[in-house]
Amino acid sequence: HPCIWMGLGLWAIFGQAQAAWDVNMRSGATDVSRSVFDLHMAIFWICVVIGLLVFGVMIYSMIAHRRSKRQHSAHFHENTRVEVLWTVIPLLILVGMAVPATRTLIHIYDSSESDVDVQITGYQWKWHYKYLGEDVEFFSNLTTPREQINNQAPKGEHYLLEVDEPLVIPVGAKVRFLITAADVIHSWWVPDLAVKKDAIPGFINESWTRVEQPGIYRGQCTELCGKDHGFMPVVVEVKSQEDYATWLAEKKAEAAKLAELTSKEWTLAELSERGQKVYQTACASCHQAGGEGIPPMFPALKGSAIATGDIEAHIDIVVNGKPGTAMAAFGKQLSEVDLAAVITYERNAWGNKTDDMVTPKD
Ligand code: CUA
Repeated sequence: HPCIWMGLGLWAIFGQAQAAWDVNMRSGATDVSRSVFDLHMAIFWICVVIGLLVFGVMIYSMIAHRRSKRQHSAHFHENTRVEVLWTVIPLLILVGMAVPATRTLIHIYDSSESDVDVQITGYQWKWHYKYLGEDVEFFSNLTTPREQINNQAPKGEHYLLEVDEPLVIPVGAKVRFLITAADVIHSWWVPDLAVKKDAIPGFINESWTRVEQPGIYRGQCTELCGKDHGFMPVVVEVKSQEDYATWLAEKKAEAAKLAELTSKEWTLAELSERGQKVYQTACASCHQAGGEGIPPMFPALKGSAIATGDIEAHIDIVVNGKPGTAMAAFGKQLSEVDLAAVITYERNAWGNKTDDMVTPKD
């Protein structure tokens, strides 16, 4: 019976859903997120009232007239008063919803007069953050061990995907995001900030936020982007103005140190040692710690033509990747020092002994 279904539906929505299942939208942590939430609730209640009225009249008619003694149904044409009413009332309702919705949209799209500008780039499968005008940029890599994700999350419980470097922004400041992608379409989403924007290669989408409370805000990639789409968390750390300034200064000092490393005169041994660490984090998962690879998908590097033959070809593969294979381009992912180090390491590890050295300047 429709009454039973409607009753069940209402009970699910009002009674259980809000409280126990937490299925409603979150009101979030910003001015924008709250206005989106208020708008959502206002429109929701308007729809509930309309639904109750329409279904109420319909169900009443079905019950009250279920055994009409009348032999023929009533026929009537044109009722100007009713027609004007059912045109004007929905019109007023629609305008009533459109005005606050438009106001909120205009607010959301106004990314002008920002205090901090961050370029966000989606990669398979991590985020890259670049602070425009500050010479600070880094990748945000997943650090939660896979075994934990797959086996140790208790049934029905949530677990957090952690990253090595969250996006850090100052509290109370207007932060503008310029969102794009390097390979396929991703989407940068943090529910509490009400920011959800597609990251599309070749396009820059804009968004912004102003967070009022320091803390950690979490989200994730929300556009299916390949095998590890589910392991591309977004972690935003909102710091006080002073802590942010300290963090930024530290990041700049790191960048300066890296620039120093790039121009330094390296020896083969030093570069290989650095390259070994880079290899373990960036390459070993496919090409294996001992360079033996997992043929045929991931070729061996130990004693192979790639790592002992033409040096230019080797650099090209590492920097630009190999189209049509799983080999990604590391030119944008690794610093010049780390690129030079890892190529040098591969050419001299596992008995390859080419004595080739690729310096950052190369
Ligand atoms: Cu990136 Cu889904």
